[in-house]
Amino acid sequence: MSSPDRYAVFGHPIGHSKSPRIHGLFAEQTGQNLQYIAQDVPADAFANCLAEFLEQGGRGLNCTIPLKELAWRAAGRCSKRAELAKAVNTLLVEADGGLFGDNTDGVGLVRDVCVNLGLALAGKRLLLLGAGGAGRGILQPLLDEGPDGLVIANRTVGKAEQLVREFAGVNGRGAPPLAACGFADLAGQRFDVIINATAASLQGDLPPLPADVLEPGGACYDLAYGTVPTTFLCWGREHGAAVSADGLGMLVEQAAEAFWLWRGVRPDTAPVIRLLSAERGF
Ligand code: ATR
Repeated sequence: MSSPDRYAVFGHPIGHSKSPRIHGLFAEQTGQNLQYIAQDVPADAFANCLAEFLEQGGRGLNCTIPLKELAWRAAGRCSKRAELAKAVNTLLVEADGGLFGDNTDGVGLVRDVCVNLGLALAGKRLLLLGAGGAGRGILQPLLDEGPDGLVIANRTVGKAEQLVREFAGVNGRGAPPLAACGFADLAGQRFDVIINATAASLQGDLPPLPADVLEPGGACYDLAYGTVPTTFLCWGREHGAAVSADGLGMLVEQAAEAFWLWRGVRPDTAPVIRLLSAERGF
């Protein structure tokens, strides 16, 4: 058999990345001959590590924290969704050696929420917590689902306002209403779906949310995931959410979209999500 095509995920820290496992399972399932490794790459080593990877014949790369913006800048050509996100999590080496950048995070989230969890976002009131890179990356795919409205709440209100200005300009009239506020301004507002894109969960912390901000029977989704339930996932369970999930499914779905871009084959994500969920036991 010919030597396997080379893929990798770059990030820092990267030790606990599940991506090599996920792509290994996808390759096994679809019979693709590839190798996928995780490489610890701090931001200041990105350019050199990328050049080395390409010299060695690398075919595609995932980039995670803190490299998504650098990857966006490194790509010669980008998908529209990566351009809007100003962040790239997937690089494809094209036939002429050029780098094509994509961002599969948003579509991964939407697929996990709408297909795996069976929640329709159309006509719903959405609350997005956080206005950093993670929030920006998922905003357009969320708006494309046609919610009744979307409010971005952030600790630094100016950053949420900046996102609203940018995306309102892109979407124009007739698009779902988009608004920005601080956490204190959420008092008296109710949402059907709350998506946490702050880094708070990773620190075991939680944005200060009014206890009744979630419609009874609504849904909570945390982009973060871990070996134990995240703080926000627990908040949802304690505040009447019918569905409260973390980002494990999104992780697998964004990987599947990258795999499809690289290999032209779409893996079945359900058994992989089932396996990883069973292994962590919640
Ligand atoms: P990422 O690319 O992962 O989004 P980021 O750009 O540093 O990382 O953004 C982190 C987000 O989490 C921001 O929205 C940040 O709020 P600020 O813009 O006010 O900094 C938010 N965040 C981080 N820690 C938080 C906390 N303890 N409580 C609430 N929000 C928090």
